[in-house]
Amino acid sequence: MKQQRILFGALAIILLVMILPACKRNTTPEQKTPDITVGLFASLTGAEASFGEDSLRGTQLAVEEINAYGGVLGRPIKLIVRDNQSKAGESSIIVRELINREHITALLGEVASGRSLEGASIAQKSGIPMIASGSTNRRVTQVGNYIFRICFIDEFQGKVMAKFMNSLGIRRAAIMADTSTDYSIGLARSFAHDFIAHGGQIVAEQNFTEGDKDFNAQLTAVKATNPEAVFIPTYYTYAPLIISQARELGMNIPFMGGDGWDSTEFLKIGGQAVNGTYFSTHFSSDNESPIVQDFVKKYYHKYHVLPSALAALAYDSMKLLADAILRAGSVETTKIRDALESTKHFPAVTGAITFDEDRNPKKPAVIIRVQNGKFTYLETLSL
Ligand code: PHE
Repeated sequence: MKQQRILFGALAIILLVMILPACKRNTTPEQKTPDITVGLFASLTGAEASFGEDSLRGTQLAVEEINAYGGVLGRPIKLIVRDNQSKAGESSIIVRELINREHITALLGEVASGRSLEGASIAQKSGIPMIASGSTNRRVTQVGNYIFRICFIDEFQGKVMAKFMNSLGIRRAAIMADTSTDYSIGLARSFAHDFIAHGGQIVAEQNFTEGDKDFNAQLTAVKATNPEAVFIPTYYTYAPLIISQARELGMNIPFMGGDGWDSTEFLKIGGQAVNGTYFSTHFSSDNESPIVQDFVKKYYHKYHVLPSALAALAYDSMKLLADAILRAGSVETTKIRDALESTKHFPAVTGAITFDEDRNPKKPAVIIRVQNGKFTYLETLSL
């Protein structure tokens, strides 16, 4: 009997020793990390720093709002931000880090299509849902079924600008593209395709590459073909330099671009020279709809500046992600992906979101006219 009691006692102790740490293991993660970690990769420094800064502001505003209402599924959102310095190759490194070291539940970013393509292939392989904010190149979401975007694509944007030029009676256009970005190459191609389809003629196509500062040779060749307008699908770092040099050559025709121009830096770099230019983008703070004005008010209150298209797209991305997690009722990445895919009429500031089979939303574009050193809203086009 005595021996049996000792045996029981020993067994009980062994069991306790086995069970206790297991209990601890089960409770600790819940207590230590109740938040949902979301990664943002952005160009916070370097050539396109304004894209990253605006994206961060928009995302942070959304996170604050979500957390002020108790988070999602009772858990606060924790945003982990990484900077790719606007450099090719960096996004792969930081996205890998966000996924493997920070164990993010979902990924937000990027603006530039080339950098989103880098991040997307890693997110897809790891099964982490990603929402690109401003990346308009079609290939981004074609990386796989975990990759979504909140903006329209360049096939649409090219069509919009072709139609817009056509409506101004422009029949002879030239193109100047940056061959170092996926964005510029893709948008130049879709614009040319649609401009020709509308009966127009591309009279000159000139290229340049990253780091170029002197565009006189290309502009002289363009001028010689006597175009009625020039389409420059580049980021804000190049277009204003090109336009200033063109004005010096006496080219007083309209210059047009896409969303890549949408930064107040464009105005600072271009000065007087960029007056009378036009571009398409995703959002205008002049839009009087209540959802836009409500966002503009909140953003202005927090940052004392008006939101750019990128700030609005980033805000929408975070809000849509939170909505998808809520609809999924879970932080399991497969369930969040499924919920994102079945998004219907999500009321985003930049236009309602319903995804097509390539996980692209169908949204209208805004045309901005540069006038008196300011971006002014001209019209909304949906085609
Ligand atoms: N559409 C651009 C790209 O795909 C990025 C961009 C979006 C820039 C919106 C400015 C505003 O690379």
